[in-house]
Amino acid sequence: MNRRHFLSRSAQAAAIAALSSTPFAAVLKAQANPAFAPFSRPLYIPPILEPIAGNGGAPIRTLTAVTGAHSFFPGLQTPTMAFNGPFLGPTIRVRNGEEVAFDVHNELDQVTTVHWHGLHVPARWDGGPHQPIQPGDIWRPRFTIKQQAATLWYHPHAMGLTGEHVYNGMAGLFIIDDDTADALPLPQEYGVDDIPLIIQDRRFYEDGSFAYVRAMHDVMHGVIGNNLIINGMIKPYIELTRPLVRFRILNGSNSSIYRLRLSSGNRMQVIASDGGLLAAPVPLTELIMTAGERYEILVDCTAQPKDTSLHLLVDQYSGNSYEALEIRYTGNINKRPAMPGKLRPHTPPAESSADNTRTIVMETMSRGNGGGMERGMMGGNRLTINGRHMDMARIDERIKLGSTEIWEIVNDSASRMQLPHSMHLHDVQFHILDRNGEPPEPFEAGRKDTVLLWPGERVRIIASFLDYTGIYMFHCHMLEHEDAGMMGQFEVYRDSDTI
Ligand code: C2O
Ligand code: CU
Ligand code: CU
Repeated sequence: MNRRHFLSRSAQAAAIAALSSTPFAAVLKAQANPAFAPFSRPLYIPPILEPIAGNGGAPIRTLTAVTGAHSFFPGLQTPTMAFNGPFLGPTIRVRNGEEVAFDVHNELDQVTTVHWHGLHVPARWDGGPHQPIQPGDIWRPRFTIKQQAATLWYHPHAMGLTGEHVYNGMAGLFIIDDDTADALPLPQEYGVDDIPLIIQDRRFYEDGSFAYVRAMHDVMHGVIGNNLIINGMIKPYIELTRPLVRFRILNGSNSSIYRLRLSSGNRMQVIASDGGLLAAPVPLTELIMTAGERYEILVDCTAQPKDTSLHLLVDQYSGNSYEALEIRYTGNINKRPAMPGKLRPHTPPAESSADNTRTIVMETMSRGNGGGMERGMMGGNRLTINGRHMDMARIDERIKLGSTEIWEIVNDSASRMQLPHSMHLHDVQFHILDRNGEPPEPFEAGRKDTVLLWPGERVRIIASFLDYTGIYMFHCHMLEHEDAGMMGQFEVYRDSDTI
């Protein structure tokens, strides 16, 4: 996606947003708060979740869903929901091949789940809508990591509640390590030269509470914020001492699409996508990330401008731009660091090896409704996949275990509402075969579990469904779309099973 493409799309979105009056006259702007000094507080780094000795089994990692309060603005407390603290959750860090055990406590007064986004995991431990954790209950998933090094994440996935729970603060990173990645000359000291960046946007009421309201407009365009937060902070700074730094970036926003740039105009090297390392670093001056995606980038801190500060700039598809993070380099090595040449070779399944092809149409129904958008939108019933809304009692796609499939995902362009979507599949990492008939750009050519579709686009992906049977979700990762029913279920079955 080139720059002009993003900008023209972005202008369209801003125009649409301007037409519909937002009900948030009282929404707080960071700039309006006199006590707020940008770049005065260091970036928060979520702690690594330490396991404790298991009772004869694997060491146990404990996550507890709690309510709390977090201060985004001095003197204002925002009520939140999170894991093990007031906002977001700890970073989970595991190794390929490791047996892991989680005790997930729900201390909220409502049902929730924990889904490991991007993880290849048995269906009953996937943490989707079929694994609800009732208030006061403990969910105890136990499984083995069968996956290469990657930056994944975790978040709730209870039916109809995903957007609300994530917005309130329930999300964290899930990092997998392996020997191959360890052996590469990449920055890997967590919090020192290997920095997690969870990018989200929020809107607030004047009392500091989140304005998570889903009027018709918010369901269609997503709940889009006018404050950008990184690891739960507005405009933090980070002080770096190493010349080469790796950022593990998650677009953990409910529905925002971002374009990331460095204020110096310098290139960043993209080294990993959702499911792991790319074959080689891809230099880019700007990176577009849709909701749910992760990318890892390398930044050369010695190449920052002399007189001005280096900022990570984040442009929102809805039209706002933010100086999101100030990057200060205080190290004394000013020699340009060496960039690794090759990373990890890929062997995506060959197109000719596919056993089956499916067409998945993401639709915004707006035709044949004389009552205007408002009428049809009550309950968000316009967002569908192949013409259907999510139904937990219905399996939409049945996939034979061990098979390789091509999914042709289409963002229907015939509708009046031209919306981007963010398709995500559970269980697998896929490769993009083509986007509108063209091979994927190099940064999109690696392992992925979430893919952006601009209005009218057609993306073909290929994936192998191995190891596990059971029911998994696929859905738009714009969480307001997901919660409005833009989700389906696929069941992986064994050939001998009768279904
Ligand atoms: Cu990030 Cu179905 O989830
Ligand atoms: Cu997922
Ligand atoms: Cu969508």
